[in-house]
Parts: sequence; structure tokens; C-alpha cells
Amino acid sequence: MSRLLLFCMVALLLGVTTISAAVYKGQRVFVRECVVCHHEGQTFLTTKTISEWEALMKDVGKPLAKIHTKDKSATKSWKYFGSKKYSKKAKHLKQFLMEYAKDSGKVPACN
Ligand code: HEC
Repeated sequence: MSRLLLFCMVALLLGVTTISAAVYKGQRVFVRECVVCHHEGQTFLTTKTISEWEALMKDVGKPLAKIHTKDKSATKSWKYFGSKKYSKKAKHLKQFLMEYAKDSGKVPACN
């Protein structure tokens, strides 16, 4: 599946027009960097609560990076999680993840 198509699907699912710029930037990171492996996409977001995402993304996302760099089945993500590209955008990604966490009360509109 092309990245663009994936992006559109997730954008639709999450109702891009109603979300803030930071959240939107974070969404782009998520779609580009995470959905390749975490295919569940939107559902995947709701596996964690706001505070769980917050904890994973604190310290420019180091805890999340660690989960991946410890896991041999995630080797393909090691370069990304070690990169500046990741830490620079971690803040946006965090906002995005928290925005749609299990207990955020936000139900992405799809109608
Ligand atoms: C190369 C594939 C790959 C990429 C890219 C990737 N992950 Fe993962 N991720 C994994 C694997 C493998 C695990 C460990 C097994 C598991 O828990 O699913 C994991 C685990 C996780 C966990 C812990 C799951 C749990 O149950 O606690 C979270 C949260 C997570 N990833 C989020 C992300 C986010 C956010 C991104 C994008 C910035 C991302 N992942 C990018 C493969 C990937």
C-alpha cells in the first residue's frame, strides 16, 4: 500500500480538519514512521492511556525508543529511533498520541 494512500486513510479516520497543527504534524510522523509496523494504526493509539503515552514520550521519546532498540523484531526502526529526525518531532508525536489515547474521550469521526 502506498504511503499516500495510508496517509489518506488515517487522515480520514482521524478527521484531520478538526485537529490542531501540532497534532497534525505528529500524525504525519505516526503515519510515516509507525504504521509500517503498527498496522492497526488508529486502533493502536487506543491501546494506551494519555498518561501511558506521556510516559513513553517523555525525554524526547527516549522510553519509546528504548522499547524498540531492545526488541530484535524491531531492528528496522533502530536507525529512525536513534536519529535527530525522531527526537526533533517527538514533541508533536507525543501530542498526537495523547490526543487520541484510550481515555482522551476523542472518538475519531468517520461518518
Ligand atoms: C520496524 C518496525 C517498527 C516501527 C517502525 C515502530 N515500531 Fe513500535 N514496536 C515494534 C515492535 C516489534 C514492538 C515490540 C513488540 C510489541 O509490543 O508489539 C513495538 C512496540 C511498541 C510499543 C509498545 C507496545 C506495548 O504493548 O507496550 C509502542 C507503544 C510502540 N511500539 C509505538 C510505536 C510508535 C509510536 C512508532 C513510531 C514512532 C513505532 N512504534 C514504530 C515495531 C515497530
